[in-house]
Amino acid sequence: MGFNLRITLLFFSMLISFLCQTPTEASPTYIHHDCINTTTTSSTPNGTYRSNLLQLLSYLSSNATSNLEFYNASVGNSVDTAYGLFVCRGNVPAADCRDCVAVATKQLVDSCPKEKAAVVWYADCLIHYSNRYIFSTMVSEPSFSASTQLNVSEPKEFDDLVTATMNDFASLVTKFGSGAKKFSTNEAQFTASQTLHTIVQCTPDLSGYDCNRCLQIAIKNLSDCCSGKSSGAVTLPSCILAYNVNQLSLTGNTSAPTPNPAPVTGNTPAPTPNTAPVPPPPSSGTDQISLPAIISIVASISVCAMLFDRHGLLLP
Ligand SMILES: *[C@@H]1O[C@H](CO)[C@@H](O)[C@H](O)[C@H]1NC(C)=O
Ligand SMILES: *[C@@H]1O[C@H](CO)[C@@H](O)[C@H](O)[C@H]1NC(C)=O
Ligand SMILES: *[C@@H]1O[C@H](CO)[C@@H](O)[C@H](O)[C@H]1NC(C)=O
Ligand SMILES: *[C@@H]1O[C@H](CO)[C@@H](O)[C@H](O)[C@H]1NC(C)=O
Ligand SMILES: *[C@@H]1O[C@H](CO)[C@@H](O)[C@H](O)[C@H]1NC(C)=O
Ligand SMILES: *[C@@H]1O[C@H](CO)[C@@H](O)[C@H](O)[C@H]1NC(C)=O
Ligand SMILES: *[C@@H]1O[C@H](CO)[C@@H](O)[C@H](O)[C@H]1NC(C)=O
Repeated sequence: MGFNLRITLLFFSMLISFLCQTPTEASPTYIHHDCINTTTTSSTPNGTYRSNLLQLLSYLSSNATSNLEFYNASVGNSVDTAYGLFVCRGNVPAADCRDCVAVATKQLVDSCPKEKAAVVWYADCLIHYSNRYIFSTMVSEPSFSASTQLNVSEPKEFDDLVTATMNDFASLVTKFGSGAKKFSTNEAQFTASQTLHTIVQCTPDLSGYDCNRCLQIAIKNLSDCCSGKSSGAVTLPSCILAYNVNQLSLTGNTSAPTPNPAPVTGNTPAPTPNTAPVPPPPSSGTDQISLPAIISIVASISVCAMLFDRHGLLLP
């Protein structure tokens, strides 16, 4: 239960970031990270790689101060080269991008002291580094997914809408060139009282074709983890996607023609991430998240959703 609550909290925080686009965020919202052991046949002592890596990470965080949403760098020669990149969510203010990259690079240094490659996803940014060349390359592993436990009323129709919305961008993006920003948010009306919010992003160094390939994998993952759930997210090193239905419509009392949705039973598996999220360094390390905390976050989503709802359907 603690785990699900935690995912819920992190996830909602992430969605708030994207729905509200608040310019000031206390501290970057962590989602998940993976340390990756890569095998190298002819590596020189790993001390060299490690120092290249630390230099690389300092390049990433220092370049994040220059209003860049994406930056890639490499440090070292031949087998000891460290390759790395950061990309910030397409709609974060520069200051939040900078803060996110600073926190995320620090966290990776501490969380992955031995591994040569790693990826971390925050709500506002993604960092990926490796001893292998990763630029302009579609990387789909490791991946992570999460959903809320809240069910939508008509799961089949809902899943179709989520998939169609994501696919729209996946198709469009194939026309984009390498280097072009590959980011989209969208709102779609599900029922009169339920608005679906989606966010999709690839690292810009990918070709449009590779972005599409990444999104296809992520969309498939989404149907595994999050089918029928009111919120879901999938993160890959090369692309991310997430969606949320405004929560007011799930719990509130609106004058919409459709009655309040009853929980619907489905046969979708619960999300099964490999490991529980590790809190970033500043955290106290507790795994308990209070229910009121979640409720207040859901409430702020609702407020944002209202601000965003041009039709005013959320207001009775
Ligand atoms: C990676 O390899 C190191 C050294 O062999 C080991 O200590 C560490 O636990 C491994 N990490 C993972 C994630 O497997
Ligand atoms: C950005 O990174 C490059 C290496 O890729 C480095 O030479 C440069 O000093 C960095 N820029 C800033 C502003 O730190
Ligand atoms: C950044 O990535 C591009 C490919 O997207 C590559 O051509 C370039 O050399 C990379 N920059 C560095 C500093 O490695
Ligand atoms: C780092 O190098 C040392 C000495 O070469 C070796 O004993 C150690 O296992 C290496 N660690 C990793 C994570 O590769
Ligand atoms: C996503 O799908 C790929 C390919 O089917 C699979 O290997 C991976 O484990 C999935 N990831 C998640 C988070 O479900
Ligand atoms: C919902 O609103 C209607 C009037 O709009 C009211 O009669 C009803 O009691 C409300 N239901 C709840 C659960 O608040
Ligand atoms: C959602 O549906 C699943 C599968 O039927 C069920 O186990 C779960 O309790 C439901 N969640 C809620 C919050 O009703």
